[in-house]
Amino acid sequence: MSTVIDDKPKLYAEAADFMPLNGTDYIEMYVSNAKQSAHFFRTAMGFQPLAHAGLMTGKRDYESYVVVQDKIRIVFTSPLKSGTEIGEHIDKHGDGVKVTALWVDDATHAYNAAIERGAKHFMKPQKEEDEHGHVVRSGIYTYGEVVHIFVERDNYNGIFLPGFQKWETHSTFPTMGLKYVDHMVGNVELGAMNKWCDFYKEVMGFAQIISFDDNDISTEYTALMSKVMSNGNGRIKFPINEPADGKKKSQIEEYLEFYEGPGVQHIAVATDDIIKTVTQMRDAGVEFLRVPGTYYETVLDRVGSIDEDIAPLQELGILVDRDDEGYLLQIFTKPLTSRPTLFFEIIQRKGAQSFGKGNFKALFEAIEREQELRGTL
Ligand code: FE2
Repeated sequence: MSTVIDDKPKLYAEAADFMPLNGTDYIEMYVSNAKQSAHFFRTAMGFQPLAHAGLMTGKRDYESYVVVQDKIRIVFTSPLKSGTEIGEHIDKHGDGVKVTALWVDDATHAYNAAIERGAKHFMKPQKEEDEHGHVVRSGIYTYGEVVHIFVERDNYNGIFLPGFQKWETHSTFPTMGLKYVDHMVGNVELGAMNKWCDFYKEVMGFAQIISFDDNDISTEYTALMSKVMSNGNGRIKFPINEPADGKKKSQIEEYLEFYEGPGVQHIAVATDDIIKTVTQMRDAGVEFLRVPGTYYETVLDRVGSIDEDIAPLQELGILVDRDDEGYLLQIFTKPLTSRPTLFFEIIQRKGAQSFGKGNFKALFEAIEREQELRGTL
């Protein structure tokens, strides 16, 4: 079987919208030092300070910093003492994504609909309020220890959520043009991909829009399989990867070994000007994967004419791919955590709704060169 990309009207019609999702509300990472993680995302990736909760706001067990860039909100949370669930999560997985929060109109309905369809409970609907109004949040588990929290915030006009204060700081750093979460990818164990795709289909009402098998995604050494699940309005896309048999350890197996289980592999964030965004991020210290210069000798033969000059794309290592609807530009960071686990993708879509299949081979060979250096291939 090869790649299947259904046409869009059909695929979105296939998703059953019993649980309408308006978009990604926030992503929460459990990290060992929230203060410094937030600082890195501000200085190196252009996020702005938004909100804070901790000792100063009456929290005794943990501290959170929230950063924002356009529609993207990321929360960094660290424990303030030993023996906490957050601390155990960090001990097992290292720094990683715990929560993908989804913005809904009715968090009680979303929770009940998911639980009725077989979701594993994480948090019953609860009303949280302060002087700025109230939110309702509820939560269910997905793969590994990752959870989806449903956030209903129509009746809230505070800075982030009840319990948070505006994060005041004297320092300012430039934004870097990141606009919204385009997709978020999970790595699951061998044989578990279909189970989690069924979960998104049956429990969340998503539809499968694309699948790749090991004939699409294999190099001399490694292989993986992937399916992309989308909600009805297309605002939430969750590709799910599992390893396939290869000669050596695949990047997915490396992730599963170092994360000690399934988890979020990468978060793709969209920009309208990838050359500018990546130049800023690189100058600020973010490291990106590089493909060989030979990639650029043939790229235009493969994708046809594009608006951008090739020179700055090559200089920065930005990749190009095309599908029936247009083309896309993309680049991947090296892991942002000490363990070779979580990374970010920067993507600029110029019509294309796919995920860069034409770049997989060059990309995975680049990842394998890094694995080789880490001694984990
Ligand atoms: Fe991606």
